[in-house]
Amino acid sequence: VVNPKKKVTFYLLYCVSTAVIGSLQFGYNTGVINAPEQKLRRFFQNVSMERYGEPFSPGTNTMVWSIAVAIFSIGGMVGSFSVGAMVNKFGRRKSMMLANILAVIGGGFMGLSILTKSFEIVIVGRLIIGVFCGLCTGLTPMYVGEISPTALRGAFGTLHQLGVVIGILVAQIFGLEFLLGSDTLWPLLLALTILPAILQSIMLPFCPESPRYLLIVLNQEEEARKALVRLRGCEDVSDDIEEMKEEGMKMALEKKVTIPELFRSPNYRQPIIIAIVLQLSQQLSGINAVFYYSTGIFDTAGVTQPIYATIGAGVVNTVFTVVSLFLVERAGRRTLHLIGLAGMAICALLMTISLSLVNTNQSLSYLAIVAVFGFVASFEMGPGPIPWFIVAELFSQGPRPAAMAVSGFSNWTANFLVGLGFPKLEELCGPYVFIIFMIFLILFFIFTFLRVPETRGRTFDDIAQGFSASAGKSPQSMAPEAVVVGLSESKEAAPMSP
Ligand code: GLC
Repeated sequence: VVNPKKKVTFYLLYCVSTAVIGSLQFGYNTGVINAPEQKLRRFFQNVSMERYGEPFSPGTNTMVWSIAVAIFSIGGMVGSFSVGAMVNKFGRRKSMMLANILAVIGGGFMGLSILTKSFEIVIVGRLIIGVFCGLCTGLTPMYVGEISPTALRGAFGTLHQLGVVIGILVAQIFGLEFLLGSDTLWPLLLALTILPAILQSIMLPFCPESPRYLLIVLNQEEEARKALVRLRGCEDVSDDIEEMKEEGMKMALEKKVTIPELFRSPNYRQPIIIAIVLQLSQQLSGINAVFYYSTGIFDTAGVTQPIYATIGAGVVNTVFTVVSLFLVERAGRRTLHLIGLAGMAICALLMTISLSLVNTNQSLSYLAIVAVFGFVASFEMGPGPIPWFIVAELFSQGPRPAAMAVSGFSNWTANFLVGLGFPKLEELCGPYVFIIFMIFLILFFIFTFLRVPETRGRTFDDIAQGFSASAGKSPQSMAPEAVVVGLSESKEAAPMSP
């Protein structure tokens, strides 16, 4: 392995920080709807009273509420799917700029809900914000992955998730009754997303377009070089340029890759399946059952102050993302993902035990808290951060936008299904609901063990080559399957390292 450059310049940090404002937005809007539920429901009733002279039936009210919650993920599906087309047309930086327009419109709509006495406007606002967040989940990891030095791509990639979890935490705290979660202030809570959008729009013009995009897609070598010199903080960026050119040359042979081609070409089929399954492992782990419904879960477990346990989960979530940030370039992606999935499966079992027995033994409510915290902590070791940035790593420049679109879409679809389905599942399975997630977790563990290569410290081109080699061109090559057989003996899980 070539000696990797690990220099972090102030300018690189500035650009990454600017981009992860998008992650913060995604987290904030994920978490913000949780606390003010009752306020919103009451608002819907008031609107109905004024308009129709009677309140909604409980069923209708729940329906309006569920739509307001779920439509966010539908927007996310649309947004994430559009990422590929958008970055190909406008580039990375301008796309982030344009996305902010949606944040301002969506936030504005939600902020005006009380004033306009309309619940429809909340729903439309949530939809627009969902599209915006869907874009963020593709644009931020892509830009960050492309400007980071190879040796730090994982650590910087994890910053996306750090932005997400801080966003969730801030939303949980601001949503407290005595802050912005009150009867009159909740529209402001929802509209607050406008501020980071403005801030990012002010900061973006000082960031460069992604050098990889400049060189490989637009063929502007001089511009790319200039951007790299500033990002890397040294005049000699020939290594980076060489590496990109090599990747570019190979890409010239295949040009832009469309979504159907991702599945048809043997070179991409394997990485796209890995990308999709990793995204599914993130969502079907059940993490958002906790983040959307934790207050209810703690309540069932007999916790007396469930709101604070929820905020506790947010704090654990943040702390362990930081832990992962420091481990990811040491332990590697694969190992951390495996540890995280295993930890979550064990905690899911503990949650089931405590929830099913809490009625016979009150002190088990502590076990429930510990289990939920452990579940969240394990999630952030791997399944939280890694799927978001590994997609950018598994593909070279040509197929990357299409791959981000497909995998982001899979993530949001699974997110939608869990968000919508969990309350029903809980009704059906009672305290055993987390067994379902445990089974998923075990299956994803097996898949990761057998199929996912280590990408730490390797160039995009090298990773892509590993896959094309395994697609049959060279049976001798270190394809993931080829090495997996001997994996238990290898001290470092790196099935495809050169
Ligand atoms: C990940 C997931 C998101 C979840 C969050 C929790 O970013 O994509 O759905 O809410 O982690 O920290």
